[in-house]
Amino acid sequence: MLLEPVTLGTLKLRNRTVVSPMCQYSSPGGVPTDWHLVHLGSRAVGGAGLVFTEATAVSPEGRISPEDTGIWNERQVAAWSRVARFIRGQGAAAGIQLAHAGRKASTDAPWRGGGPLDAGHGGWTPVAPSAIPFDEGYPTPVALDANGIAKVIEDFRAAAQRAREAGFEVIEIHGAHGYLIHQFLSPLSNTRTDQYGGSLENRARLLREIIAAVRENWPAPMPLWVRLSATDWAQGGWDIGECVQLARLLRADGVDVIDCSSGGTVPHPKIPVGPGFQVPFAARIRREAGIPTSTVGLITEPRQAEEILQRGDADVIEMAREFLRDPYFPRRAAKELGESIRAPEQYERAW
Ligand SMILES: Cc1cc2nc3c(=O)[nH]c(=O)nc-3n(C[C@H](O)[C@H](O)[C@H](O)COP(=O)(O)O)c2cc1C
Repeated sequence: MLLEPVTLGTLKLRNRTVVSPMCQYSSPGGVPTDWHLVHLGSRAVGGAGLVFTEATAVSPEGRISPEDTGIWNERQVAAWSRVARFIRGQGAAAGIQLAHAGRKASTDAPWRGGGPLDAGHGGWTPVAPSAIPFDEGYPTPVALDANGIAKVIEDFRAAAQRAREAGFEVIEIHGAHGYLIHQFLSPLSNTRTDQYGGSLENRARLLREIIAAVRENWPAPMPLWVRLSATDWAQGGWDIGECVQLARLLRADGVDVIDCSSGGTVPHPKIPVGPGFQVPFAARIRREAGIPTSTVGLITEPRQAEEILQRGDADVIEMAREFLRDPYFPRRAAKELGESIRAPEQYERAW
């Protein structure tokens, strides 16, 4: 199944391997560069079915780091168009992950420590559902008021239009990893008493209003994915039970795929990390909410990926680090699974 085409919504992928979004911290002024063309382009050349951009901010204040990419202006659209065109030209689908970091914004690149940056070092004051810092040493975010929430929704709406202009074929809304949307979902980061806090329906309101706004510029059947953390891995936090309920609502809202990850709300959770440790979340959401799922997290072997699909635990397989180590993973998978996939014409003499 791994190397067979799959149709999700109206989009046909040439196989079920997906390059998971990966921040590159390499976009001066929020504009993607030649790095992105080569990095993402290589994985399209390598045979992936769908290649996602990294978390791409819908506004400057929504970046995780000052070097994050974004899609809030026309210069970024032009730069992304080149990348998306190349990916599509290689037979892969081009996807963009739209993101807002919320209280986890304004941090340094991981290879410089990844800590919070103050205004003197190129940082800014982050926003969040509630004025609760992520961790010790992190700034206290400003709790969004009604105007602030309206602006976030508007930013996602405009970003969807720009993603369309840039030639992307899939939008994924980043609702995971403790960033803004997940901050609203989790009772650990959302203590609001208005219509955006309290009940699950209220905590999910921002995400669902964003989806409605995105859909205005990215109408069905254009593929719309949402990445969710299935659990906070923390007492009193967001969990898989609520996530299944949310997935049901999102299916009704016209979301095509739930991309199932976990964690990110609390700084040092205890996570039972191991091969495919997040697969059970994708399986449960797929079965109980009746919506296609993507699974991600320590999937590194072709047979492991194939078995997940054969069991019906997920519809596609996303990989991040294995695709960094091996842009030709689909080719290795073909060899190990006894299949063949086409090489770019220019490379045919090598295979
Ligand atoms: C360098 C790097 C950057 C990442 N950036 C993002 C990101 O921008 N958005 C996101 O949703 N996840 C991000 N992640 C998480 C991955 O998409 C993926 O969910 C995680 O690494 C687990 O998959 P893996 O075991 O195949 O690496 C990142 C991971 C890595 C290694």
